[in-house]
Amino acid sequence: MPPASAEFLAVRDGLLRTARLAGYGHIELPIFEDTALFARGVGESTDVVSKEMYTFADRGDRSVTLRPEGTAGVMRAVIEHGLDRGQLPVKLSYAGPFFRYERPQAGRYRQLQQVGIEAIGVDDPALDAEVIAIADQGFRGLGLTGFRLELTSLGDDTCRPQYRERLQEFLFGLDLDEETRERARLNPLRVLDDKRPHVKEMTAGAPLMLDYLSDSAKAHFDEVLGHLDRLGVEYVINPRMVRGLDYYTKTTFEFVHDGLGSQSGIGGGGRYDGLMAELGGQALSGIGFGIGVDRTVLALGAENVTAASLSRCEVYGVPLGQAARERMVVLAHELRGAGIAVDIAYGGRGLKGSMKAADKSGARVALVLGDRDLAEGVVGLKDLRTGEQRPILLTAVCDEVVATRE
Ligand code: HAM
Repeated sequence: MPPASAEFLAVRDGLLRTARLAGYGHIELPIFEDTALFARGVGESTDVVSKEMYTFADRGDRSVTLRPEGTAGVMRAVIEHGLDRGQLPVKLSYAGPFFRYERPQAGRYRQLQQVGIEAIGVDDPALDAEVIAIADQGFRGLGLTGFRLELTSLGDDTCRPQYRERLQEFLFGLDLDEETRERARLNPLRVLDDKRPHVKEMTAGAPLMLDYLSDSAKAHFDEVLGHLDRLGVEYVINPRMVRGLDYYTKTTFEFVHDGLGSQSGIGGGGRYDGLMAELGGQALSGIGFGIGVDRTVLALGAENVTAASLSRCEVYGVPLGQAARERMVVLAHELRGAGIAVDIAYGGRGLKGSMKAADKSGARVALVLGDRDLAEGVVGLKDLRTGEQRPILLTAVCDEVVATRE
């Protein structure tokens, strides 16, 4: 709600500004989908699917799920509407609420807000760099600086299976508890994400995907890095990065902010080679990101940066007297028609109360109109910062207000 909502909107829209300039068109996704879409798309063995989904039966006894993320829904829509048969890549962006049954804490909500983009159908390292650079520029455009981009490659289906076996061999050689062994069986990469110190210590020497990349996956990754270098997008390679969703292949990344405590991931994404085929479409690759709007707002707060203007209006109308009130209502309407943000003192408040309200509104100028001014065809234009006031012609208010802009 105001005033925080102004910041929220500025962040949400600001994060996608560069995406618009790069040709990403908006897609409005359903809030819920068939449960099977997320189970297959995101992966049964992920926490998101196995522990965090809001799943229920609808009145027709179909299992539906509140969307925990956007990529699977975008892919479903692209396949269903045949966009993958048109011009490639399909470039789409989305924004809205997502739902995960996580333990709520600062920066972790059960209804979270994301913006995201997906570029589907072309496997080109330059596109990986574009997607990453759009996120980077989105953050920087808001004034955020205290974050880092972590990057790795998760390989492709020519090298990932071998690596998985290697990692499992390593993990089965460790003295792990039964639950962790089971995780090593189902989703060995996730064991590298275990936060418990003794497990961390044991897995410190685990084999890393980056050392097992196939020639083509390695060439792809090197090309992405080359593009990012030329774009001046700074990154650190994090070969132990583990994402919470299973569809990633090749380039995978996360934006991390240090001012947020444990919920430090402000955005993340990567390439997904197998997702479209897994969901019944063609075997086309895609890449995208999701950025947490709530966390980006928190990160800006941690840096003492505001993305939104805190003023509710630019002009505040102060009518004194009945005739002046009637004229002020019309004047405000005309100024709004000319694109100027105006609010008025309603309720017949006196000069003192109205000027207080003018100051609180954040307006730059007040228009003080008495019945006598009205008879003379003028209105007082008061600069609310300097306190200076001068009469201007009622017929010239719009031009005069615009002229006071810096
Ligand atoms: P994700 O990393 O699961 O990726 O989520 C993206 C971002 O959403 C996170 O970096 C975080 O900022 C925010 N987020 C996630 N969970 C919460 C929560 N409980 N509370 C607040 N913020 C949260 C995805 O969702 C992928 N679909 C991104 C993607 C798009 N990959 C490829 N294309």
